[in-house]
Formats: sequence, structure tokens, C-alpha cells
Amino acid sequence: MDGDAYIGREQTLVKHRVLRTYLSRFAPIVLSRWDSITYVDCFSGPWKAQTEDLSDTSFAIAVEELRKARAVQREGGRAVEVRCFFLEKDASAHEQLKGFAARASDVTIETRNAALEDSVPAIVSFVRRGGTETFPFIFIDPTGWTGFAMDTIAPLLALRPCEVLVNLMTKDVRRFLEAPAQQTQASFERLFGRPGVGQRVAGTQGLDRDDVVVEEYSRSVKDNGNFTYVCTAIVLNPEQDRTHFHLIYATRHRKGVEVFKDAEKKAMKDQEAVRAAAEARRRLDATGMASLFGEEMHSPAYYDELRGHYLTRSRGLVRRLLESEGRVPYEQVWDTAMAQPLTWESDLKDWLRQWASEGRVSHEGWTPRQQVPHLDASNVVVWSS
Ligand SMILES: C[S@@+](CC[C@H](N)C(=O)[O-])C[C@H]1O[C@@H](n2cnc3c(N)ncnc32)[C@H](O)[C@@H]1O
Repeated sequence: MDGDAYIGREQTLVKHRVLRTYLSRFAPIVLSRWDSITYVDCFSGPWKAQTEDLSDTSFAIAVEELRKARAVQREGGRAVEVRCFFLEKDASAHEQLKGFAARASDVTIETRNAALEDSVPAIVSFVRRGGTETFPFIFIDPTGWTGFAMDTIAPLLALRPCEVLVNLMTKDVRRFLEAPAQQTQASFERLFGRPGVGQRVAGTQGLDRDDVVVEEYSRSVKDNGNFTYVCTAIVLNPEQDRTHFHLIYATRHRKGVEVFKDAEKKAMKDQEAVRAAAEARRRLDATGMASLFGEEMHSPAYYDELRGHYLTRSRGLVRRLLESEGRVPYEQVWDTAMAQPLTWESDLKDWLRQWASEGRVSHEGWTPRQQVPHLDASNVVVWSS
């Protein structure tokens, strides 16, 4: 990915990295089993794109990754298809989108110049025209917190099969929470599709407030789409120690979680690198001097603090699950840990190893030479208090 195209909007680079890494593994898996992928971008843009070929946009990234997966299947003799529906409300952005679609003539692309609020039946109809052997992926990437009320997107979440990625603009949600109470209440209800969230958020602050907002939003997505798993990736403000937005991913398959967590982990590495570069640039602008130590001056303290926060949480959740249930399939332990951001499977394995060395945990179902638990291998974690 061309870093220069993202200067001053490094959060978009992180978002695009998550999308690209996710699709680069999702698409080959889907196309090995399904006849087509139906990819829907509900807020396509282009939006602040810096490249002539629009390669720094989510739709171009998606088409590139889906094409690659299609090529592999076609080489293997399978006639699979890539179908895209790109929606954009702004007329001039839509013109550019249409131009892109015309150039990508090897892919079925339908574009529409309209608001999402007026387009859900058209999207559902496009998905259905793909037949029963298409797998839809829905990307919802708005500019703020309006235009994607839960009631609006519910028919998309309810598609079966499907997976969904929503960009929840935490920074805007945070800001509008400070608006007058009544207006806040009504907007909240529309965004979350149910009452009561405002009350849960009131009285919380900082990271705890972000956590409640994201937890409640994830619950709404999960319930409306009857999803089994929801995970989130945190995208930070490139220049300040605060969250810019959360990417909320929902699926009905554990494999999807595995792939998303991998994309999250890779994007977090990039995130620290681009934040370091942004900091070095800021220092250069302010002082006119490049730091002797360049990007090494960047302190990862905030990222480390965040990771520490979520690790404490996920470890506590896993421990409470084991303490209360006693004998738990590894899949359930894994699901509990992986539902938290910034928690990797290696963390979970470290805790289990440590608890085993303290005599608190034992395992059932392991083969004689097995060192670590595996998914889908009837491994059971046993807690002895
Ligand atoms: C954040 S930008 C999308 C960026 C793009 N997904 C990317 O990553 O390259 C949001 C886009 O949605 C468009 N938009 C805003 N409100 C909309 C609505 N209600 N329905 C559809 N598009 C909308 C905006 O014009 C803008 O181009």
C-alpha cells in the first residue's frame, strides 16, 4: 500500500490494511466453496483519495483482492464470479466510481448514486440475483454516525449467508454524546435500534465509555443479524492518544474470526509504524529539524496501555468462564478471548500454560505429543480450584 497516499489520514491506511488483509484470506476460502462473492460497499466514495487510479480506496482494494482469488480458482478450472455493488450518495464521487467500474470490465459491478436509506431493497435484490450459491460481504463505512440506522441496515445484516464489516465512528459518537439529552437519546435509539443504550453510557468516561458504546453496538449487530461472532478492531487517531473508530466485524463462522483476528494483528503493527511516522513529521513541521532518532522516538505507551486494558479483561473473562464451568471445550475458551480486541491466540495459550504450571488447569483430549490446545480437535480445558 502506498504510504504517501495516506499522509494526514493514516487511520484510513489502517482501515484499508484490515480490509485488504481480511479479503486476501476470506476471498480464496469463499471462492473455493461458493460460485461467487457478492461484495457490497454501502458508502463507497471515493473520499479523499489521493491517487489517480483510485488505488487508495476501499472499492479498488476489494476488487484487486477479489480478482486475485478468482484467478486462482479459474486456473484450477472453477468458473467462479466476483459481483460488486457500489453505492455512493454524492454525485461527483459517484461519477468517479462509475468511471472505475467501466475500467474494471472483467468484474460485474453495479453502481448506484443514492443514499443507503433509499437503497436497501436494491442491494438485497442485487444479492438475490447472485442465486443461492453466492456469498455476500457487506461493508458499511460512513463518514459520521448517521445514514446507517440499525433499522435501515437490519435487512442487510439478516442476509444468509453473509458477513459484515461496519466502521463505527467512535470519535463522532463520543462527540454527539455531549449534545443535548433528548436529541442524543433519539439519535442513539436509531443508531442502536433499541432504547436504553443512552442510560448505559451515561456516567461512563474515557475508555470505559468507548467500551460500552462498542459493546452495545456489537450486541445490536449480533441480534439483528443473528450472528454467532462479533469482533472489533480499534483504529487510533494518528496524532492523538485516542480512538478514531472501531471496525466491527460480524460472522457466523469461527474461521471468519480467525481470519479477522489475523488481519487485526497485522494492522496493529502497521498502525504503530504510521503513528510513529506521523509523530516524526509533526516534530519536523514544528521544529524544522528531523529527529536524530527518527521514528524511533515514538512512544508506544498508549498502544501498550490499551493492549494491557483488553488483556486484563479477556484474561478475566476466560478465568471466570473456567472457574464457573469447570470443564470447557477449547473452542468456547477461544471464542471468549478472541471476542476482545487486541487479544491474540498466543496470549490465550500463555495464560493456559501459566495456569497449567500453577496446577490450576489441566487438559483433556490432547494427543500424547501435543504442546498447545487446538481448535476442532475435541480439546477440553479443565479448571481445578
Ligand atoms: C468514509 S467515506 C467512504 C470511504 C471508502 N469506503 C474508502 O475507504 O475508501 C463515506 C462515503 O459515503 C458517502 N455517503 C455519505 N452519506 C451517505 C449515505 N447516506 N448513503 C450512501 N453514501 C453516503 C460520502 O459521500 C462518502 O463518499
